[in-house]
Amino acid sequence: MAKAKMHLGLDLSYSHMGGRWRMPGAWEHASFPDVGTYEELARIAERGLLDFIFSGDGTGVPVTWRGERDAAVEWGINWPRQDLNPIFVAMSRVTKHIGYGLTYSSTFMHPYYTARLLNSLDHVTNGRIAMNLVASTRQSDAENFGFEGLMEHASRYERMEEFIDVCNQLWASVEADAMVWDRASGRVGVPSKIHDVDHNGRFFKVKGPLNTPPSPQGKPVIVQAGGSPRGIRAAAKVVDHAFAADKALDLQVQQRHAFDEVLTAIGRDPSKVGILWQTPITIGKTEAEALARREKLLTLVPLEAVGAYLSHNCGYDFSRLPNRFSLKALNEEIIATQASPVGFVHELIHSFGESAEMTPAEFFEHGRRNATGYEQTIAGDAQQLADILEEKFEATGSRGGFMLGHTVEMPADLIGITELLVPELQRRGRFRTEYRGRTLRENLAEE
Ligand SMILES: Cc1cc2nc3c(=O)[nH]c(=O)nc-3n(C[C@H](O)[C@H](O)[C@H](O)COP(=O)(O)O)c2cc1C
Repeated sequence: MAKAKMHLGLDLSYSHMGGRWRMPGAWEHASFPDVGTYEELARIAERGLLDFIFSGDGTGVPVTWRGERDAAVEWGINWPRQDLNPIFVAMSRVTKHIGYGLTYSSTFMHPYYTARLLNSLDHVTNGRIAMNLVASTRQSDAENFGFEGLMEHASRYERMEEFIDVCNQLWASVEADAMVWDRASGRVGVPSKIHDVDHNGRFFKVKGPLNTPPSPQGKPVIVQAGGSPRGIRAAAKVVDHAFAADKALDLQVQQRHAFDEVLTAIGRDPSKVGILWQTPITIGKTEAEALARREKLLTLVPLEAVGAYLSHNCGYDFSRLPNRFSLKALNEEIIATQASPVGFVHELIHSFGESAEMTPAEFFEHGRRNATGYEQTIAGDAQQLADILEEKFEATGSRGGFMLGHTVEMPADLIGITELLVPELQRRGRFRTEYRGRTLRENLAEE
């Protein structure tokens, strides 16, 4: 029997941040967001037959650490960022098959605008667009959009479910064969194939239909990365494929089971919904080469940059840690801020136990390894990486695949993925040897 094939995305979000831009060979003759550099990455990724390129997003300049943005600006921590939408359009014009995944927040965006924008992007990319919907866990993002604080965690996910429900109604409001463009008669569209939308919900009041021609995929591929029980429930409702965080394999197996249960409970077939696991990697011709590259991660930014990164992502100012504290009490304080309950401190609890206590020095020692990606980055040659990916893939149900990313050095790591890792996975029957689908949705559906 043929082995189940993996799907591979490439996460470009951090290739210019957290000091990675100063690795040898990275961003050498241009600085972010140079479009030519991105176009070149797209060409290389398509040579490797990857499913799609992805970027996460967030708007806020991190201010949680010490209540100020200086460390984030000085060391490039989650800053600067761009809306990558026009850059992905440029990348799509120099490629034919590879897809593009953009991130938008259902907490801050409006569904009418978003549905219309994604329709246009699906046209321009010829059916290669995906949307990663995020509920947004960061205080400074919320303030960009006029919120005093973060909306309560559960409400953010209720809003997300309503948001995508409205988008789906809008995308369905123009049937696939609604356009005529008949030169002889002059008829443009078929009125009976355009449908009203009249949504009046808790968060949104929206009248449709969309005023756009139907797009090649009808709607973008939807992905979402909720990791908490509420986030996973929302993912089960809204996604074509889920994203999930890189964490210990037993936690990933647990998350796959939890996700399958929820999918089954709402009548979806879990065998058809993959999870793409975030997987930071660095690859070398030899293990030693890859290990040496990973080692550099620890030297790229100073400790205050680590503090800015962790504080921003956890929604808690770690510069105020007392001399000794319990991890459990700390995570409870984080949860009370309405940030995510399953972030870095939750992972520390998983490693050290609920009753563990720490000093700030110990916390930042672990923090440095986490914030730089050192701890999470799998370093090795193609065989070693393929072994690890196969083990994870099988343990988590052989559905979906991996979002390779947070690579240490771009484009060297991407070239390593396409020239070393992909051939090794193909040799094992685990990865495509050509693009078969016409759209991103079709490519992601291949088994
Ligand atoms: C692969 C991956 C990509 C993510 N991308 C973003 C992003 O671009 N912006 C963002 O605000 N959150 C992002 N997140 C965070 C998730 O959307 C989610 O908030 C997080 O996993 C915590 O789960 P929870 O919201 O259920 O508590 C990402 C998470 C993962 C695993």
